[in-house]
Amino acid sequence: MPTPDLRIRRGVIDDAKEASRAHTDTWRISYRGLVPDALLDGLKDDRWENGWRRGFESMDPTRVVHVAEIDGRIVGFAGGGRARANAPPGYVGEVYALYVRPEHQGEGIGRALLKAAAEGLVERGLVPIVIWTLFDNPASRGFYESLGGAVIGEKREPFEGYELHEVAYGWLDAAPLVKG
Ligand SMILES: CC(C)(COP(=O)(O)OP(=O)(O)OC[C@H]1O[C@@H](n2cnc3c(N)ncnc32)[C@H](O)[C@@H]1OP(=O)(O)O)[C@@H](O)C(=O)NCCC(=O)NCCS
Repeated sequence: MPTPDLRIRRGVIDDAKEASRAHTDTWRISYRGLVPDALLDGLKDDRWENGWRRGFESMDPTRVVHVAEIDGRIVGFAGGGRARANAPPGYVGEVYALYVRPEHQGEGIGRALLKAAAEGLVERGLVPIVIWTLFDNPASRGFYESLGGAVIGEKREPFEGYELHEVAYGWLDAAPLVKG
């Protein structure tokens, strides 16, 4: 059960700095051992800030961004929209990013954020839905599999001079993501 004071709301441009920091902190802790230490140690606090600002400023109506707040502090976020070019055929919607701060993982926040993101994609007609995650990330893979995601692809993605091995999960029907 999500914590009672949890609030899921649409993200706004003023969230860019704090969401970017949550993004970086979650990588540094949750991805330790999954990607090279040098990559994590080289991540700057504002690594994702401009991307977040651009996402908000694009005014693209197909974008869906939600943040999870507890006592006014951003503890997680999810961003989605039209599937990127490398999506498996037929998958028109994508959750680009889903992160929950490590100290709040396992409290139902990821589930609540993913539900909000999926509802936004359904409203925009962006189903089937794809989500890419690290191939060697048992926690996120277990999470997506528990929600009925099927493995539909794999890729090697260049990132900061390294190559990340990623796996795609797909949902032909958004119902398992939207319910609950
Ligand atoms: C993956 C992540 C988003 C999940 O969010 P979370 O808030 O920790 O997960 P929740 O507490 O909402 O879990 C929801 C459900 O998934 C299940 N689940 C979570 N982790 C699981 C695992 N490793 N294996 C199986 N089921 C799992 C939970 O049991 C829960 O089911 P329940 O409600 O029936 O008990 C979060 O842990 C995270 O940010 N991890 C680091 C970053 C990352 O890997 N992001 C995904 C890459 S796109």
